[in-house]
Amino acid sequence: MPDAVTLSVDGVSVTMPGGSMVSAAVLKSGITSFRRSVTNEARGPLCGMGICFECRVTIDGEDHRRSCQTVCQSGMDVRTVKNSSNTGRLGTIRVKSRQESDVVVVGAGPAGLAAAYRAAQGGMRTIVVDENPNSGGQIWRSEEQKPTSKEAIAWFEKIRSVNIQFLAGASVFQQSDGRKLLAETPEGVCELSYSDLILATGARERFLPFPGWTLPNVMGAGGLQAIVKTGLPIEGKKLVIAGSGPLLLAVSGYLRGLGADVLLIAEQASPARLARFGVSLLKQSGKAAQALALKRQLKGVRYLMGCWPIAAHGDEELTSVSLQQGTRTWQVSCDYLACGFHLVPNLELAQLLGCKTRNGCVQVSEFQETSVSNIFSVGESTGIGGLELSLIEGEIAGLAVSGNRNEARKLFTLREKQQRFAKILNRTFDLRDELKTLVASNTILCRCEDVTFDRVRAFHSWRAAKLQTRCGMGPCQGRICGSAVEFLLGWQTESVRPPVLPVRLESLVMK
Ligand SMILES: Cc1cc2nc3c(=O)[nH]c(=O)nc-3n(C[C@H](O)[C@H](O)[C@H](O)COP(=O)(O)OP(=O)(O)OC[C@H]3O[C@@H](n4cnc5c(N)ncnc54)[C@H](O)[C@@H]3O)c2cc1C
Ligand code: FES
Repeated sequence: MPDAVTLSVDGVSVTMPGGSMVSAAVLKSGITSFRRSVTNEARGPLCGMGICFECRVTIDGEDHRRSCQTVCQSGMDVRTVKNSSNTGRLGTIRVKSRQESDVVVVGAGPAGLAAAYRAAQGGMRTIVVDENPNSGGQIWRSEEQKPTSKEAIAWFEKIRSVNIQFLAGASVFQQSDGRKLLAETPEGVCELSYSDLILATGARERFLPFPGWTLPNVMGAGGLQAIVKTGLPIEGKKLVIAGSGPLLLAVSGYLRGLGADVLLIAEQASPARLARFGVSLLKQSGKAAQALALKRQLKGVRYLMGCWPIAAHGDEELTSVSLQQGTRTWQVSCDYLACGFHLVPNLELAQLLGCKTRNGCVQVSEFQETSVSNIFSVGESTGIGGLELSLIEGEIAGLAVSGNRNEARKLFTLREKQQRFAKILNRTFDLRDELKTLVASNTILCRCEDVTFDRVRAFHSWRAAKLQTRCGMGPCQGRICGSAVEFLLGWQTESVRPPVLPVRLESLVMK
């Protein structure tokens, strides 16, 4: 990888460290408005992980490229909406390849890596596919070369010790036949055949709409962290971190460590719930140590409990945010609002393959097998539980597919312990009902199609609202607004059709 690359963003030359993503280069060049929405609002990255499609730009003449999933290359010509040639050109599919293996793992996060390691160690021909160019998932993204935690160092070392084939930058979007999946890669569509499939598709942040949440520089907490990890300088920037979950603390600690000025952390959970959570942390020595390290990192930063953002302000980009705690409301000036309300599992691929889900999670057996035989699911797609649980589940599935069920059984007690902790975690950060009142009637709910909350709630179901308003029908396919609607209106939004991700037309019609 080169130390530095120079590319052009809207005609201006920008130099980035090698391996940076285009989204970071655009923001570094001072541009916050990447695209215009269907009603001409300025928009910029929200999720940082390939889910929201708000970071689309034109790259070397090809429109609609997700800049947070595209690595900067020397000489690249990047155009945001202001300067897009708007050719509407679709990418060219150059080759169609086929890969055969014993085990295909979708997702190169901790769960997928652990599963692949155990499968390969057991002698299985193993392929790992991830739509991101880098492996490591949300927590270890961009750390393969320079891991920062002892877990990441140990796991990347283990991965290097076995024979695993990686297919990076490949989005699995469809099943072509029994035990065959299709993945779109920059070179073309690849057909992946398997005997066993392990789904490790992880989770995403839950976003809730409130006035101003569509402004550029209002991002997810993990979203901002992802963009910083892939090249955006954050030193000296003023941040408000808000929403819910331990991720807020992890992100604040990370960004503060890079010199960001974290003005405050607003956590919606009540002090009583957080106190109970603190007690349960003390019973887990590893987690207690992590919490103490974070506390030290965040010394002097205000952590406001029972507090949440009620509005983001600015014309073309964020300038300040209004917060509420009890009956008090006030406004804070900042450069970024990083806001996510805990996490929701990514179920779409599992559902497409017919795997049963319950309470928003993929249902699995003791060996992590789904309701469809030979398809396993591991990590946060089976429920939000943190790094340790993801790794253990991955190992169990990897051992199971390589015929080592007795070894897998030895991990069951450890998994149960982590599952008990996961229950407490999810109870603590369960969202309070007051957050349902954050959205105003004219607040945009569906960011892809600019559909307001008022228009959606006039219907009695998600399906009716989709048919009549186009909400949930844009490129994110309801991944952002669907999770919000489940919380706000209690509607079930779980229904998927192929392709599970937007792909080029050529990828769909190729034979
Ligand atoms: C945005 C975000 C940031 C986070 N940051 C932290 C943190 O700083 N510290 C912390 O302790 N925990 C963090 N977490 C939680 C952490 O990710 C989990 O605890 C755990 O590590 C999840 O591991 P996983 O392997 O299940 O999923 P992930 O790490 O999410 O990996 C899933 C992978 O699957 C890939 N994928 C999904 N669908 C497809 C498809 N159709 N085709 C191809 N690839 C696909 C994704 O690109 C991704 O790389 C974060 C979570 C999120 C959502
Ligand atoms: S920021 Fe790139 S898809 Fe969400």
